[in-house]
Amino acid sequence: MPLQSMVVHPATVHIPIGVFFAACVFAGVAYFRRQPRLEVTALHLVVFSWFSLIPATISGTIDAVARLESPATPSGALFWINLHAASALVLWLVIWQAWQLRRKMTHDPIWEAPTYATYLVRLGIGLSCIFLSGWSGGHMVYALHIGILP
Ligand code: HEM
Repeated sequence: MPLQSMVVHPATVHIPIGVFFAACVFAGVAYFRRQPRLEVTALHLVVFSWFSLIPATISGTIDAVARLESPATPSGALFWINLHAASALVLWLVIWQAWQLRRKMTHDPIWEAPTYATYLVRLGIGLSCIFLSGWSGGHMVYALHIGILP
């Protein structure tokens, strides 16, 4: 596959980035303003963001293998690809954990659930991972020039 045809990863990554960021903002606002409907919306976004990571992860893995095989890829790229992939995989894990924790909560209001703080901490860890993944991805493309841009 020619490197120029690798447009799927850059095209798919912005969906989980935007959706998960919105989920965290909504969950935070719902928590501080005690808005149950907004809190449920945040949960739906958490679930959607998990599924939207599937095409991003598959296309990223295909790209990473092709980049590492290419003689045009600088030798330092392996560290950044590993950092990028590791943060993406931790992200996937913590969003899954957040989803499963929240799914089991039956309290009304939901904030009285003893595990609600753990759920919010998972969202916070996920937010850090998405910043790390997005930043390392951007570093690879714009500083190491291993993306589709010249
Ligand atoms: C195992 C999972 C992943 C691997 C192996 C991977 C690999 C890569 C590689 C090799 C690049 C360099 C450019 C390219 O070839 O497209 C890249 C770019 C990028 N990745 Fe990933 N990626 C993965 C998952 C993710 C996830 C889950 C996100 C975000 C949620 C993400 C965000 C980005 C961004 C923002 C860029 C820069 C795209 C651009 O501006 O052109 N990646 N990734």
